[in-house]
Amino acid sequence: MDLAEIKVINTQVQNWLATAVNELRQNLDEQLQVRTKSGRNDLVTNFDKGTEHFLVEQIHHAFPEDQIVSEEGFGDRVQSLQGRVWFVDPIDGTMNFVRQRDDFAMMIALYEDGQNVLGYILDVMQDELLWGGPSVGLHVNQQKITGPANQPLAAGLLGVNGPMFALNREHVRDIAFASSGARIIGSAGLEFQRVIRGRQVGYISHLAPWDVAAGKILAETAGLSVTTIDGHPLNMLESQVVLVITRRALPEVQKIRQS
Ligand code: IPD
Ligand code: CA
Ligand code: CA
Ligand code: CA
Repeated sequence: MDLAEIKVINTQVQNWLATAVNELRQNLDEQLQVRTKSGRNDLVTNFDKGTEHFLVEQIHHAFPEDQIVSEEGFGDRVQSLQGRVWFVDPIDGTMNFVRQRDDFAMMIALYEDGQNVLGYILDVMQDELLWGGPSVGLHVNQQKITGPANQPLAAGLLGVNGPMFALNREHVRDIAFASSGARIIGSAGLEFQRVIRGRQVGYISHLAPWDVAAGKILAETAGLSVTTIDGHPLNMLESQVVLVITRRALPEVQKIRQS
């Protein structure tokens, strides 16, 4: 895809997100319909479904050849990353949305033949859209931004997954103790956003493709490292333990895991 085409797609995606977020805001006082999925802390609401349905419809209508990986079942059964593949997480941080009406995001990502193209993390209550990609750079709303400083682990906060921290899975607690402190936000997208904007040195969590797809594009555009916890490239069709971190802190994390 050339830059002109990417810019046209970017305008379309930003319009879809603006429509989706307006719809959500206008109906925020409505009674939520909340259901559980795999367990009592795995929730889905009518807003997750409505937003995903809307976004998937827009993508399918605009780009009928493209495939969509999404969380709540409106996307396609995607087996390969060949061609253009979209990732949609309609509400990232559904538990925060239900309990707090805050700290949740809408996320969209576009890859072509497995390569980063465009990523979007919309912090709904802050009205802040972090967007960009390798050919358009990084932006918050209308403002261009640069990537974070290349901090060592001890100089920054580390976002962690709660159960992984509590059980020290993959040495997450040990790694967090070597940072300035652990933080648990409850939205993978907003954790990525904090790392990209230099408010955290890194983030570690077990994530599905739609949790990580936008963050990976934006973080790599920002000069950060995004890998599995073992340092391998991500498989964008599987869940895995993901590590996003500054390049300087990466070998420090590897050293702690090997000790
Ligand atoms: C969840 C959030 C949470 C992360 C979970 C995700 P959802 O996404 O990103 O922070 O720890 O692994 O599933 O289900 O609210 O879209
Ligand atoms: Ca979910
Ligand atoms: Ca999610
Ligand atoms: Ca979700």
